[in-house]
Amino acid sequence: MTEEIISKTANYIREKLSGESSGHDWWHIYRVWNLGKKIAISEKADLDIVELSCLLHDISDWKFNGGNDNIGPKLAQDWLQKIDVDYKIIYPVCRIIKDISFKGANVKNPLLTLEGKCMQDADRLDAIGAIGIARTFAYGGYSGREIYNPDIKPKRHNSFEEYKKNQSPIINHFYEKLLLLKDKMNTDTGKRLSEERHTFMESFLKQFFNEWEGKI
Ligand code: NI
Repeated sequence: MTEEIISKTANYIREKLSGESSGHDWWHIYRVWNLGKKIAISEKADLDIVELSCLLHDISDWKFNGGNDNIGPKLAQDWLQKIDVDYKIIYPVCRIIKDISFKGANVKNPLLTLEGKCMQDADRLDAIGAIGIARTFAYGGYSGREIYNPDIKPKRHNSFEEYKKNQSPIINHFYEKLLLLKDKMNTDTGKRLSEERHTFMESFLKQFFNEWEGKI
């Protein structure tokens, strides 16, 4: 694939998502793209498919389009057709975009190709660690949630419908999703990269609750 297709796509997404304030802005895409390249190289996956799916994966997230997870793949397809990308690339990229979103702790995700696994690991890594904490609070504020409320306990969601409707406090999101991601990483590279980020979130939560209780 030509460099040009990748850079045109990066520019298109950068323009589309710049200044977005919920943690799904261009810089999220930029970080996922970098992580995706790194993982794809060490896992020997097809770099073009991983790069394009990383760049296009949040083109229209169900969290912001009324819950329809078909819009993202359609927009990605329209864009790739417009810049004359081969169908052999378009099809797997759109498939990945449809398959990767997190649908609740107890909902089984579809089987992914190696490229899908790399892309999903990159996206999950950006959801944990220091960046993950920052993004979680940004999204929580954006969607009008409380920081924490000890009266509302975290829940494991059994269906995508249930997960989408969830309005629980921001801290609960760590227990409902973020702390589960380390064990859901697909690739060895992803697993290795998730360790330090996971430990950092655990120490953040420990500090948070110690402060909450006035212990320190
Ligand atoms: Ni993402």
